[in-house]
Amino acid sequence: MKSYAYVFILSLFIMSCSTSETSSENSIHTLEYQKQVDSLLGKMTLEEKVGQMVQYSGGWDLTGPATNANTQLKKQQIEKGLVGSMLNVTSVEQVREAQKLAIEKSRLKIPMLFGFDVIHGYKTMFPIPLGEAASWDLDLMQRTAAVSAKEATAAGVNWTFAPMVDISRDARWGRIMESAGEDTYLNTQVGLAKMKGYQGEDLANPTTMAACAKHFAGYGFVEAGKEYNTVNIGENEFHNAVLPPFKVLAEAGIATFMNSFSDMDGLPATASHELQKELLKEKWNYKGFVVSDWGSIKELETHGVTANLAESASMAVQAGNDMDMESNAYAEHLVQLVEDEVVAESRVNDAVGRILNLKFQLGLFDNPYKYCDEAREKTDIMSKENMDLAYEAALKSMVLLKNENQILPISDEVKSIALIGPLANDKNTPLGNWRGKAIDDSAVSVYEGLKGKLSNSVELSYHEGIDFIKGGESFGSPLKINTTDNSKIEEAVKLAKSKELVVLVVGESAFQSGEGRSQANIGFAGLQNELIEAVYEANPNTIMVLMNGRPMDISWSAKHFPAILEAWHLGSQAGNAIADVLLGNYNPSGKLTVSFPRSSGQEPFYYNHKNTGRPTGSPNEVVFSNTTDVNDEPLFPFGFGLSYTSFDYGEIKLSKNNFNKGEKLTAEIEVTNSGDRFGEEVVQLYIRDLVASRTRPVLELKAFEKVGLKPGESKTISFEISEKDIQFYTANKKWEAEAGEFKLFIGPHSEELKVETFHYE
Ligand code: NOJ
Repeated sequence: MKSYAYVFILSLFIMSCSTSETSSENSIHTLEYQKQVDSLLGKMTLEEKVGQMVQYSGGWDLTGPATNANTQLKKQQIEKGLVGSMLNVTSVEQVREAQKLAIEKSRLKIPMLFGFDVIHGYKTMFPIPLGEAASWDLDLMQRTAAVSAKEATAAGVNWTFAPMVDISRDARWGRIMESAGEDTYLNTQVGLAKMKGYQGEDLANPTTMAACAKHFAGYGFVEAGKEYNTVNIGENEFHNAVLPPFKVLAEAGIATFMNSFSDMDGLPATASHELQKELLKEKWNYKGFVVSDWGSIKELETHGVTANLAESASMAVQAGNDMDMESNAYAEHLVQLVEDEVVAESRVNDAVGRILNLKFQLGLFDNPYKYCDEAREKTDIMSKENMDLAYEAALKSMVLLKNENQILPISDEVKSIALIGPLANDKNTPLGNWRGKAIDDSAVSVYEGLKGKLSNSVELSYHEGIDFIKGGESFGSPLKINTTDNSKIEEAVKLAKSKELVVLVVGESAFQSGEGRSQANIGFAGLQNELIEAVYEANPNTIMVLMNGRPMDISWSAKHFPAILEAWHLGSQAGNAIADVLLGNYNPSGKLTVSFPRSSGQEPFYYNHKNTGRPTGSPNEVVFSNTTDVNDEPLFPFGFGLSYTSFDYGEIKLSKNNFNKGEKLTAEIEVTNSGDRFGEEVVQLYIRDLVASRTRPVLELKAFEKVGLKPGESKTISFEISEKDIQFYTANKKWEAEAGEFKLFIGPHSEELKVETFHYE
């Protein structure tokens, strides 16, 4: 067996001394149970230690007979104390049954961790992460994570594989739905809010759970947005755009990290010593543990960097991957690798120490069944309180993209509405992908929402217009979309013609985005375009409601329809919330955290791009960074979203124009609600570093504040800028602020900004 020391080779790329990348001394996440961990480690055999590093998926009925040899083997291994964690085992009954095998049968009675993808809810579904990020409401995001944790822990689960903080600039990538969008600062803030919500103040509280920062690192940059693809990203961009959220979460004490399926610069992340060991654990001083992604250790062989599973186990463990999710690599080979002295036992001790530490933190040694409370399982899941929060989150996540002649909110004078579209009475799509244990078809549909909220004097008629999805609506099944049968369109057209107003609900199935759901085309799938154009022709007085998991190419619709409401996959309460926005009971306040392009071919498409040597200019200019067939300006820019009221911005006032190291700069702006109803506005601050040792983005979000204003009310919003806000990964391969001129912008979105200049010395 050869050793895999060569994983050190690329270390120069990731490693480089930097102030900002060295973890602070007082990282709250320390090995606080070191004594207990050491004492337990001292009692464990090598087999038992390796067992702690093994994670299996359940999914079988633990209370029934083991159905196949594989299941039997897994059960036997738990009984022998050779399994540290299970995933996909949910419900008090199932978790108790599995935990019993470890506690009652194994020699050392070490409890197992139970992990699950609680991404936007456990059973009560909140908006998909991309949608919820559009609320720009960090407090809300923390609360929905806390309720997700409350529900999941009431069902025995104590570890979620969230938040995903992969920067997602490419709408073709299906997993963009699981991110907070294209901006690094926003992903960091949202990731932190989510972590705080899941983990709470104290991991030992039985209503909180361990969180996981994923996917470390670079997954969001898969080439052409194609799932699991290779990543090629330069060192500077990697440090500036990709790593910051991970570093902040590591320092804030997130319990675990998950690595990425992708390879970068020739090395799969699962095998990257530079990332996991040198950067995360050494430089950032991270004390939690790293779990592989599903089968990603085994996939090292498929990537072509190892020849067999034993080599994969060796490479991954030496790189710093502590727990093996479903590869069987550690279970089958790690003991032997240690005995052959290919892997040092000290590495195994380190990994096991990290895993045991979390089990102590969660309080599992005091009570291995502390998350198995039948009473809580009945009261804490899908409670009225949780549903109310789902409703609030759905309301706040919608983005009003267009509203000509104030067609929205729907006037009381409208007496007949045609509700059309395949998603209009759909109770399943709003639940989105990564739907935890959501009950299929349990969301409130738009039809149900409108029916319940419209006065009896308004006639509401519904027609689906087309059959959209013909099957495959589950996590792992290929989606079947109707592309041939347009026979229902005619009736929908008739209905559209006969009513004063049409509400047209179209977009994407829940399973067009999410893991394994990349698309080359981000327009409307199936026969939706045909339906959209026919309905418009029949009745141009049509409001489009979009349900989707990514920014879409909606150019034709944006040109024609007078109003468009972006409603993502909003979760359990979708229909109620959508109806309230359409009817004006709630004034929309969401803003996009992803740019909308005009064509799929423009992806990756993001606001914080570089200027280039030949900046995007007039479409009539040829030898510039323009596409010659499509306008380069976003259809809807990052940060954009309308309200039923209007906001006026004053001029920026800076506390000074020169600021020096160690000082603070204050930027103020007055914002006024100039309309006639209460509204909330997300005031955004961006900075541009004009001359630097490396090219810098044309704009970078650095701060924001969401403010509620009554009609006529003004507020002065004040932002404090310090050196850290202008730091970046410079030519010195360090995080530092460089002296020079900067532009500071404040405004309602990334394309409508007031500007000031300051100098940093
Ligand atoms: C694969 C996904 O990439 C990851 O995000 C998820 O947590 C695991 N599967 C477990 O389901």
